[in-house]
Amino acid sequence: MKKIIKGGRFTPDNYSDEIEEKIQKLRKQGVKLPPRKVLRTPEQLEGIRASANLNTALLDYLSEHIKEGISTEEIDRLAFEFTTKHGAIPAPLNYGGFPKSVCTSINEVVCHGIPSPHEVLKSGDIVNVDVSTILNGYFSDASRMFMIGDVSEEARRLVQVTKECLEIGIATAQPWARLGDVGAAIQEHAEKNGYSVVRDLCGHGVGLKFHEDPEVAHFGKRGTGMMIVPGMTFTIEPMINQGTYKVFVDDEDDWTVCTDDGKLSAQWEHMILITETGNEILTQ
Ligand code: MF3
Ligand code: CO
Repeated sequence: MKKIIKGGRFTPDNYSDEIEEKIQKLRKQGVKLPPRKVLRTPEQLEGIRASANLNTALLDYLSEHIKEGISTEEIDRLAFEFTTKHGAIPAPLNYGGFPKSVCTSINEVVCHGIPSPHEVLKSGDIVNVDVSTILNGYFSDASRMFMIGDVSEEARRLVQVTKECLEIGIATAQPWARLGDVGAAIQEHAEKNGYSVVRDLCGHGVGLKFHEDPEVAHFGKRGTGMMIVPGMTFTIEPMINQGTYKVFVDDEDDWTVCTDDGKLSAQWEHMILITETGNEILTQ
């Protein structure tokens, strides 16, 4: 596809005149809008979609193997082999010094858990497996929760409500809404259910890089923050805690994020595209 650069224009090359006008008007009003570089051209979208499809295939593949008795190291190995076999690169590997291809976060681990041969999934565990793929230079990112064997009612409810938080966040991420609307909707659902929202980590733009603008907080105030416009691709990935929202980073590995009180945490993540009429989940 041919890329047409329109000098001085804020928007990607495929907007309708109606959208162009709307954005110019909002811009004059001083509304906070995303930088042009995070609005995808059709050509970029094609690459991002292909990456996201492979990332989804990887999660589907892993889900066939994630059960009691498998080590997180083994999950990591399966992910590395699957990804490289398909001509892609696991994005976490060597990212800021991260040593593995996936993040595996069990029970009180909030995110960024490092796979290990000494860590074996056991009945009752809830585990998040977070995978990200670079295909032809385009990035994708998604994660799911897995419940191993006999999981307590309380843990099940946390996993379920966290999934609902993601769904509500996606439903709220409409063109011309604000990022604060998304955060507020997620926070409201989590807190209504007696849970808390992790503050120190957030969703993010993704596509040309692993982490791009904007930051997508999973808490916030309606009517605040950057306006959501067609052409953006970003993740929504709420981390919801049973107890306090406070977390700490393991000082031995400098990666593993754990709940401060040792209670459970869950997370689900999708990557979405904002369209002129709504949004599209790219990672399903
Ligand atoms: N997938 C995680 C995210 O959503 C990133 C983990 S990769 C790591 O940002 F290298 F930072 F651990
Ligand atoms: Co992410």
